[in-house]
Amino acid sequence: MPLKWDQSLATGIREIDLQHQELIGLINELERAQLAVSGNGGDAAGRAALAEVLPRLSSYVLFHFGTEESMMETLPGRPPHVEKHLQEHRRFAERVAALKGREVAPEELAAFVDYLKRWIVEHIQRTDRELSTFIL
Ligand SMILES: [Fe+2]
Repeated sequence: MPLKWDQSLATGIREIDLQHQELIGLINELERAQLAVSGNGGDAAGRAALAEVLPRLSSYVLFHFGTEESMMETLPGRPPHVEKHLQEHRRFAERVAALKGREVAPEELAAFVDYLKRWIVEHIQRTDRELSTFIL
Protein backbone atom coordinates (compact mmCIF):
# COMPACT_ATOMS: atom_id res chain seq x y z
CA MET A 1 0.00 0.00 0.00
CA PRO A 2 1.38 3.43 -0.88
CA LEU A 3 2.43 5.76 1.88
CA LYS A 4 0.47 8.93 2.35
CA TRP A 5 1.82 12.11 3.94
CA ASP A 6 -0.52 13.52 6.56
CA GLN A 7 -0.30 15.60 9.73
CA SER A 8 0.98 12.59 11.67
CA LEU A 9 4.22 13.09 9.70
CA ALA A 10 4.43 16.86 10.08
CA THR A 11 7.54 18.32 11.70
CA GLY A 12 6.34 21.91 11.44
CA ILE A 13 9.43 22.89 9.42
CA ARG A 14 7.93 23.73 6.04
CA GLU A 15 10.99 23.01 3.91
CA ILE A 16 11.47 19.61 5.56
CA ASP A 17 7.79 18.69 5.34
CA LEU A 18 7.77 19.48 1.61
CA GLN A 19 10.87 17.37 1.07
CA HIS A 20 9.31 14.50 3.04
CA GLN A 21 6.27 14.69 0.75
CA GLU A 22 8.53 14.48 -2.30
CA LEU A 23 10.43 11.59 -0.74
CA ILE A 24 7.24 9.69 -0.01
CA GLY A 25 6.18 10.20 -3.64
CA LEU A 26 9.48 8.66 -4.78
CA ILE A 27 9.10 5.72 -2.39
CA ASN A 28 5.63 5.11 -3.80
CA GLU A 29 7.05 5.23 -7.34
CA LEU A 30 9.69 2.72 -6.31
CA GLU A 31 7.03 0.46 -4.83
CA ARG A 32 4.98 0.61 -8.03
CA ALA A 33 8.06 -0.33 -10.08
CA GLN A 34 8.90 -3.10 -7.61
CA LEU A 35 5.39 -4.56 -7.90
CA ALA A 36 5.64 -4.37 -11.69
CA VAL A 37 8.90 -6.33 -11.79
CA SER A 38 7.89 -8.93 -9.22
CA GLY A 39 4.74 -10.15 -11.01
CA ASN A 40 5.26 -12.97 -13.56
CA GLY A 41 9.00 -12.47 -13.74
CA GLY A 42 8.49 -8.78 -14.40
CA ASP A 43 8.09 -6.80 -17.56
CA ALA A 44 10.54 -4.59 -19.45
CA ALA A 45 8.61 -1.42 -18.60
CA GLY A 46 8.76 -2.28 -14.89
CA ARG A 47 12.49 -2.93 -15.06
CA ALA A 48 13.05 0.35 -16.93
CA ALA A 49 11.00 2.24 -14.32
CA LEU A 50 13.02 0.64 -11.56
CA ALA A 51 16.34 1.50 -13.19
CA GLU A 52 15.13 5.09 -13.47
CA VAL A 53 13.56 5.60 -10.03
CA LEU A 54 16.19 4.01 -7.83
CA PRO A 55 19.02 6.48 -8.65
CA ARG A 56 16.53 9.37 -8.48
CA LEU A 57 15.42 8.26 -5.03
CA SER A 58 18.96 7.79 -3.79
CA SER A 59 20.08 11.27 -4.93
CA TYR A 60 16.99 12.85 -3.43
CA VAL A 61 17.67 11.10 -0.12
CA LEU A 62 21.18 12.58 -0.07
CA PHE A 63 19.90 16.03 -0.99
CA HIS A 64 17.27 15.84 1.75
CA PHE A 65 19.73 14.63 4.38
CA GLY A 66 21.96 17.54 3.34
CA THR A 67 19.16 20.00 4.07
CA GLU A 68 18.57 18.59 7.55
CA GLU A 69 22.28 18.34 8.27
CA SER A 70 22.84 22.01 7.40
CA MET A 71 20.08 22.88 9.86
CA MET A 72 21.82 20.78 12.52
CA GLU A 73 25.07 22.64 11.95
CA THR A 74 23.38 25.85 13.05
CA LEU A 75 22.45 24.40 16.46
CA PRO A 76 24.48 25.92 19.26
CA GLY A 77 26.48 23.54 21.47
CA ARG A 78 25.96 20.51 19.19
CA PRO A 79 23.36 18.65 21.29
CA PRO A 80 23.62 14.78 21.42
CA HIS A 81 20.66 14.71 19.05
CA VAL A 82 22.98 15.70 16.18
CA GLU A 83 25.31 12.66 16.41
CA LYS A 84 22.39 10.27 16.77
CA HIS A 85 20.58 11.86 13.83
CA LEU A 86 23.68 11.84 11.59
CA GLN A 87 24.26 8.20 12.42
CA GLU A 88 20.72 7.26 11.36
CA HIS A 89 21.23 9.11 8.08
CA ARG A 90 24.57 7.39 7.47
CA ARG A 91 23.21 3.93 8.12
CA PHE A 92 20.27 4.54 5.85
CA ALA A 93 22.43 6.00 3.05
CA GLU A 94 24.69 2.92 3.23
CA ARG A 95 21.68 0.65 2.86
CA VAL A 96 20.55 2.59 -0.23
CA ALA A 97 24.06 2.69 -1.72
CA ALA A 98 24.37 -1.09 -1.32
CA LEU A 99 21.67 -1.54 -3.98
CA LYS A 100 23.29 0.70 -6.55
CA GLY A 101 24.85 -0.54 -9.77
CA ARG A 102 23.88 -4.19 -9.50
CA GLU A 103 21.07 -6.57 -10.24
CA VAL A 104 18.67 -6.76 -7.27
CA ALA A 105 16.57 -9.89 -6.80
CA PRO A 106 12.80 -9.28 -6.55
CA GLU A 107 12.65 -10.56 -2.93
CA GLU A 108 15.50 -8.28 -1.90
CA LEU A 109 13.82 -5.33 -3.55
CA ALA A 110 10.50 -6.09 -1.86
CA ALA A 111 12.28 -6.28 1.52
CA PHE A 112 14.04 -2.99 0.77
CA VAL A 113 10.77 -1.20 -0.07
CA ASP A 114 9.29 -2.47 3.21
CA TYR A 115 12.32 -1.30 5.13
CA LEU A 116 12.18 2.10 3.41
CA LYS A 117 8.53 2.63 4.27
CA ARG A 118 8.99 1.66 7.90
CA TRP A 119 12.22 3.65 8.22
CA ILE A 120 10.85 6.90 6.83
CA VAL A 121 7.79 6.95 9.09
CA GLU A 122 9.76 6.06 12.19
CA HIS A 123 12.60 8.46 11.39
CA ILE A 124 10.25 11.39 10.74
CA GLN A 125 8.08 10.78 13.78
CA ARG A 126 10.93 10.31 16.21
CA THR A 127 14.16 11.84 14.93
CA ASP A 128 13.04 14.64 12.59
CA ARG A 129 10.39 15.72 15.08
CA GLU A 130 13.05 15.89 17.75
CA LEU A 131 15.16 18.03 15.41
CA SER A 132 12.23 20.39 14.96
CA THR A 133 12.13 21.05 18.71
CA PHE A 134 15.62 22.58 18.39
CA ILE A 135 14.78 24.57 15.27
CA LEU A 136 11.30 25.94 15.92
FE1 LIG B 1 16.37 13.11 9.28
